[in-house]
Amino acid sequence: MNAVLQSHSPSATAREFLARRHRLFIGGQWVDPAEKADIEVFDPATEERLATVPRGGPKDIDRAVAAARKAFEGEWSKINSHDRSKLLFRLADLIDANMNLAVELEVLDNGMPRMVAHYSIAKFGADYIRYYGGWCTKILGETIPVSPQDAPNGESLTYTRREPIGVVGAIIPWNAPMIMAILKIAPALAAGCTVVLKPAELTPLTALLLGDLIRQAGIPDGVVNIVPGYGHDAGAALAAHDGVDKVAFTGSTEVGKKILLAAAGNLKRVTLELGGKSPFVVFPDADLGRVIPGAARGAFFLQGQNCMASTRLFIHEDVFEKVTRGIAQLASSFRLGPGLAQDSDLGPLISGEQRERVMGYIDAGRKSGAELLCGGDAPPGKGHFVRPTLFARTSMDMKIAREEIFGPVLCAQSFSDSDLKAVAAEANRTIYGLSGSVWTRDISTAHRMVNLIDSGQVSINCHAAVDPAIPFGGNRQSGWGREFGREGLDPYLKTKATTVMF
Ligand code: NAI
Ligand code: MG
Repeated sequence: MNAVLQSHSPSATAREFLARRHRLFIGGQWVDPAEKADIEVFDPATEERLATVPRGGPKDIDRAVAAARKAFEGEWSKINSHDRSKLLFRLADLIDANMNLAVELEVLDNGMPRMVAHYSIAKFGADYIRYYGGWCTKILGETIPVSPQDAPNGESLTYTRREPIGVVGAIIPWNAPMIMAILKIAPALAAGCTVVLKPAELTPLTALLLGDLIRQAGIPDGVVNIVPGYGHDAGAALAAHDGVDKVAFTGSTEVGKKILLAAAGNLKRVTLELGGKSPFVVFPDADLGRVIPGAARGAFFLQGQNCMASTRLFIHEDVFEKVTRGIAQLASSFRLGPGLAQDSDLGPLISGEQRERVMGYIDAGRKSGAELLCGGDAPPGKGHFVRPTLFARTSMDMKIAREEIFGPVLCAQSFSDSDLKAVAAEANRTIYGLSGSVWTRDISTAHRMVNLIDSGQVSINCHAAVDPAIPFGGNRQSGWGREFGREGLDPYLKTKATTVMF
């Protein structure tokens, strides 16, 4: 049974930040919203109120888009690429310099363990910004060796140039708030775009810290604007705004579809990072010493509130008992607790609502006849905790195996088939296609499975290897486009072709 830890006290610096009079970040200034309204921010581990943040609405989105447009057409368009690069490096250094505060605010706001916050903000915050900072000076066009019309002198030159797409609306979720903000801002700024960011209503704190750091870095006014607000209100206004050239969204598939419809008004460009239900396929020759912790980490990282989570295990029947027993044992040893407590392995879920939703799925799993091997309940007391849960003997006909739960719930089913196509067909029986992994020592089996699984990422003997340089994104209803890597820059650029007749 999982131990539940208690101790939990923020530092004086964090307390000071929380107690501030928070405002919206528009045009390089901290400003009040047009209509006075607030968002109360809670600690999911204690259910206590942490801070009050202004709630921006459509009028504030208008102001922020105007500021982003002004910066895009003004100062930002004149800054040369080396200087853009330096500004991004400076921002990355400031994140490193403020790491303790960033980690603490992230942990209090989201609930993730301190170590997870530290690792993710360092690697996908600061290092990700540096990665894109390096791209500023390497955005190249092409020269194209054709003569499209009869050149009077038989000579011509055709070249392309990659230009920034314009003003970007970024709408992000609550599961990894600070890095989600950075995942959008860094490639946008590297490409020369400006941004209006709407953080998730549940987790606005680190976005506000980022506003401070953006200002300190000397990034010109209006290049990044930050408007906390609700989705149906500020988010919808941003997605529909005629002054926005592109929306970058991460969140649920359901809202992703709404974003697409909202974007139709001015045919703005859209990239979507949506849900997942990623397969984790174990062959009998796999190194089980790596499979077991790999599956537990893949499924329960961020309490299972992550889009690439390995939520569906397909395990060969010869090793099924051993692997599922191993995972259940490991998962039961995880200590639940506030992210700031020294030894927490797993934090709380983001909200009471999310816990209800996850418990609803666990009930559905029980009723569908799946075998509960560990977890299945929520510890009593304060905090939105759910014990890591493993269901065995699931099938793709069950709701728990088909739908994205976004909580610490793992489904395991066995296969006996040596027909890899049949195994892959089960793995592909979902509307999603984000991540996936294959575990075997046989290189032919591994690569054949990689070919057969329809996901934006399929790894071998590891799950969801993420790096600023590795493209990441979904197939089917997991989304449109890729983030990370060179491909992650493309959605922020448009191509202009020029022909010169000599
Ligand atoms: P959500 O998709 O509603 O929220 C994500 C962001 O979209 C937030 O900033 C929200 O304010 C905004 N938003 C909501 N409605 C909007 C609209 N009509 N127009 C523009 N922006 C809008 O996610 P929610 O409700 O917090 O979580 C529900 C479920 O969604 C989760 O249980 C999970 O299954 C899934 N989800 C998946 C994520 C992923 O990364 N794959 C991230 C967050 C949620
Ligand atoms: Mg929602």
